[in-house]
Amino acid sequence: MSFKVAIVGATGNVGREMLDILAERAFPVSEVVALASSRSIGTEVSFGDKTLKCKSLEHYDFSDTDICLMSAGGEISKAWSPKIGQQGCVVIDNSSAWRMHPDVPLVVPEVNAAAVAGFSKMNIIANPNCSTAQLVVALKPLHDKYVVKRVVVSTYQSVSGAGKEGMDELFNQTRAVFSAGEVVTKKFPARISFNLIPQIDVFMEDGFTKEEWKMMAETKKILDPKIKLTATCVRVPVFIGHSESVNIECEKPVTADEAREVLRAAPGILVIDKHEPGGYATPHEAAGEDATYISRIREDATVENGLAFWCVSDNLRKGAALNAVQIAEVLINRKLIQPRQKAA
Ligand SMILES: NC(=O)c1ccc[n+]([C@@H]2O[C@H](COP(=O)([O-])OP(=O)(O)OC[C@H]3O[C@@H](n4cnc5c(N)ncnc54)[C@H](OP(=O)(O)O)[C@@H]3O)[C@@H](O)[C@H]2O)c1
Repeated sequence: MSFKVAIVGATGNVGREMLDILAERAFPVSEVVALASSRSIGTEVSFGDKTLKCKSLEHYDFSDTDICLMSAGGEISKAWSPKIGQQGCVVIDNSSAWRMHPDVPLVVPEVNAAAVAGFSKMNIIANPNCSTAQLVVALKPLHDKYVVKRVVVSTYQSVSGAGKEGMDELFNQTRAVFSAGEVVTKKFPARISFNLIPQIDVFMEDGFTKEEWKMMAETKKILDPKIKLTATCVRVPVFIGHSESVNIECEKPVTADEAREVLRAAPGILVIDKHEPGGYATPHEAAGEDATYISRIREDATVENGLAFWCVSDNLRKGAALNAVQIAEVLINRKLIQPRQKAA
């Protein structure tokens, strides 16, 4: 059984990663179609050892496509996902457009795979924000065992989280600094090279940013509405890989040794936690990998049943493309979709 899959945003950071991951995991495809804006018609992208030529989303007919992996931003998703869903193609969307919609499941397969079953109302499933995805993978086993009551998280988010333009801005600014050229700031609200920026997305009325709000709201929807979470999201001059400093308060007593074992046994997690130089994961090691890495696990004696840890993952993979492909695999493994085209 194999499926016709369309990638919307195939020329982007996440779209290219999706193509790689479909090929790496030998996803059962009958055909893969690369779609982007009309600017990219004919642009070549790689899928395994094949080369695909991009077509325009605007002129594509989804009526015989089974799965659409959508990664072209919120506005495109708002305009297109419902129309594609109505044509009987299941959309797995990476933008924030549908995440909090009551008829759209928000899914991280290691945490709430069963929620996928609610997709059929709109034929849309949402992928969480990249920072939320790795956080809930880490929190889930701890919540199951110790009941997490409150989370304080500070993020160190790479520039690839802001798309191709974000990566270009870090590269160009760094080059300008070394060649005594002009440092031009366009994509980010402040200079990012040799700096960091305590603002991701727009400010909300209460002084938090939208990115911080997303982490709070999405964690509640995916994991447990009772969890209290406060976040500070920071952009750092790293190309790929988001890091998080996480502090949790639990209902039940927790030791660092036991938490380490609980995390080690959990799906999607790799614990690297030696008390020596380099005995922890950094974004450099996480880039290109599938796991969520947990390091620096320690008891926090300043609160009752407190634990602190460090969490790193590739934002383009677990934070976006890998999670989307895993959702598609859940749909197939649970027989929630069938190919629309009969095999020849
Ligand atoms: N990067 C991350 O860590 C991350 C994590 C989670 C979620 N996301 C979400 O994933 C989405 C894409 O992110 P990205 O990092 O891949 O961005 P990106 O590198 O800037 O790529 C954007 C993609 O969208 C396509 N696109 C733009 N306008 C379009 C249109 N009118 N019709 C069809 N396609 C259009 C672009 O095609 P052209 O080349 O033709 O312009 C390109 O393929 C965003 O919603 C983002 O919020 C990103």
